[in-house]
Amino acid sequence: MSHRLFALIVVVLSGAPLLVQATDAAAIARQGNGKGAPPCMACHGADGAGQAATGNPRLAGLHAAYLRKQLDDFASGARESTVMKPAASALSEDERQALARYYSKLPLPPGLAKPETPMPLADSVGAVLATRGDWSRDVPGCVQCHGPAGVGVGTHFPPLAGQSATYIAAQLKAWQNGARHNDPLQLMQHLAKALSAQEIDAVATWFAAQPLPAKGATP
Ligand code: HEC
Ligand code: HEC
Repeated sequence: MSHRLFALIVVVLSGAPLLVQATDAAAIARQGNGKGAPPCMACHGADGAGQAATGNPRLAGLHAAYLRKQLDDFASGARESTVMKPAASALSEDERQALARYYSKLPLPPGLAKPETPMPLADSVGAVLATRGDWSRDVPGCVQCHGPAGVGVGTHFPPLAGQSATYIAAQLKAWQNGARHNDPLQLMQHLAKALSAQEIDAVATWFAAQPLPAKGATP
């Protein structure tokens, strides 16, 4: 074997461990990245279902591009969160991408198929806002963008079904007070500002009561 060929083989072999160390999103979710990012599962659940009581959102089955955008927005401050800013800032670009992909591929947590909260009546304030909106105030029905029963649509419109009322209401209030201003077209900002506190609670309760279809999260 020529020296040159031997050197080449050594270089190729010594490169191998780098490949083995490709970002392991499941490990970060379980135990953090050792550089300041906490274990995601402590707050988002082992199955990515989130924790309704504390308002930690569901991540399982959300679109990877949406999840990635949120991590970038937390890090940049376009979406303010005392919890998620340090977490997202401690992740490298590769780690954010890998975690977004990991959570997007998690199966729908079975617990979310049957929400614990009862379904509000079809003519309740929340149901009417969600399905029809209020055109006298330029408020379109939420389902026009978030899909029927809030299942989510494509890359940009996240699911609302499978999120707790606490979380949904908190996000609407964050848009109202400017803590979340990561929406390029300001669709949500405009909408949230048009809603009263009672309407926010009603529409959040309606979406939290929507069962998730057993198969496929985001169409
Ligand atoms: C200490 C609890 C906690 C930990 C740990 C945590 N999160 Fe979060 N996460 C939250 C809370 C609370 C929110 C909602 C923040 C807000 O908007 O107020 C959130 C929101 C998110 C969102 C936005 C979801 C959406 O629907 O818009 C993503 C994505 C996310 N977290 C990913 C992660 C990842 C990845 C990790 C692990 C590196 C992680 N989180 C660790 C509590 C936590
Ligand atoms: C014109 C389209 C449009 C309409 C109508 C709309 N939304 Fe949204 N909504 C969006 C977009 C886009 C986002 C994602 C913003 C981002 O990139 O963070 C969003 C995000 C959200 C989120 C955050 C979800 C998460 O996982 O953090 C909530 C909650 C929400 N919308 C509630 C509502 C409610 C309630 C209504 C009806 C009153 C509504 N939306 C109507 C476009 C819309």
